[in-house]
Amino acid sequence: MQKISQEAITHFQSIVGDKNVRQSPNDLEHMGKDWSTVPNPRPSVILLPSCTKEVSEILRYCNEQAIKVVPSGGRTGLVGGAMAVNGEVVLSLQRMNKIIAIDSIGMFTSVEAGVNTQALQLAAKEHGVMFGLDLGSAGSSLIGGNISTNAAGKKFIRNGGMRQQVLGLEVVLADGRVLNLKGSLRKDNTGYALEELFIGAEGTLGIITKATLRLQPLPAQTTTLCCVTDTFQKVLRTLELCHLKGLQVNTFEFFSRSSYEAVRRLKELKPLFDGNCYMLIVLEGGNQERIDAVVEQMFSDELVSDGLIAQSPEERLNLWTYRDMIVEAVGVYKVFKRTDVSLPIPRMGEYLNELMQRFASRPPSIDIIAYGHVGDGNFHIDYISNNPADRDKIIAMEREQHELVSTYNGSISAEHGIGLLKKPYLNLTRSEEEINLMRNIKQLLDPVGILNPGKIFDL
Ligand code: LAC
Ligand code: ZN
Repeated sequence: MQKISQEAITHFQSIVGDKNVRQSPNDLEHMGKDWSTVPNPRPSVILLPSCTKEVSEILRYCNEQAIKVVPSGGRTGLVGGAMAVNGEVVLSLQRMNKIIAIDSIGMFTSVEAGVNTQALQLAAKEHGVMFGLDLGSAGSSLIGGNISTNAAGKKFIRNGGMRQQVLGLEVVLADGRVLNLKGSLRKDNTGYALEELFIGAEGTLGIITKATLRLQPLPAQTTTLCCVTDTFQKVLRTLELCHLKGLQVNTFEFFSRSSYEAVRRLKELKPLFDGNCYMLIVLEGGNQERIDAVVEQMFSDELVSDGLIAQSPEERLNLWTYRDMIVEAVGVYKVFKRTDVSLPIPRMGEYLNELMQRFASRPPSIDIIAYGHVGDGNFHIDYISNNPADRDKIIAMEREQHELVSTYNGSISAEHGIGLLKKPYLNLTRSEEEINLMRNIKQLLDPVGILNPGKIFDL
């Protein structure tokens, strides 16, 4: 457990000002934790710098003194990447929240790392353009954290995840050096793309202080369809039909009957239609006739058995409630485990069936909540129980699920990252050579080991 000297506190106060050095029990508890299930946040101090220069001075000092630092954004991560559990200094970017530019000629925006995701979406929209990333946690997550965790979310199939939005980054290295990587250039073919290293690095290689991000034109019109079918294979064939008919798929989400029921146990909602596999599909584009014809074909080919198209913004929001509330509905159980696996899209159904067969004789108190971003090959398969005695069984099921993923050439994390919670499984889908190369890169950029220690892998 790291202890911070009074001398260090005084030094931090000289950099960021007294009121931006926080040590109240409330601040330590609140700012030391994320949305994961990792217990006992125990940071020793919270620092709230206002600019890159202050971040740089903090890191230079911490590096000299070997003081460990957890970088912190909106702390909405689900795997413990922003947990400070060993007396670390939490360096929060939340005061660095300026949108510096929105440029509709270059179609980019420049932002400080502490800009809120939803605030950026709204600002871009007001400007007549779109920021293409959308997440369930958009109201709380910050751009720097999204980049550090390579967040993905609902529109990945259309726009890609955070990695695909980044044009350039400003990064402060562990020793305080500031790198400006690529700026707003679209093209720069001059050797290694260093900015890529910091995307998804979970704050272990440097602290992102600014970013230049891609913008998109606003879509002409979207159609939101919620429908249901009996097998997952038909979900995949519905997706294929959209592709083959040339529709621009904006979102293609899936949730199982058990997910639907878990949400309805949490919140009273108007019932949807009955079935096993629900789909929430957003199609984009001006040609309504073509979209209507494809929707009709979904029914005539018997790919879907029931469904509805949202007729108003309220109806659209209502439909999304079923999908967006799953994460919360899982979190109310005494024991729960969230997973986030990536699979080759055509094999998703086969994987789900094999998993459900393996777990068919589980204790009846354990429910399996399958949902996710089908268009991206991304399942969330969560385990819930109100019987604390199921904890070990659920841990064993998670391991078995990840072992199965490795036999499908999948990944144990599609979008949530590794943090602390998925560390035990990393070697199932990344080779020892790869993990050692990651260790070498970490060693090169953070030789003292001050940045987000213990996250992703052990050194
Ligand atoms: C979601 C989060 C759990 O898809 O990634 O709802
Ligand atoms: Zn997700």
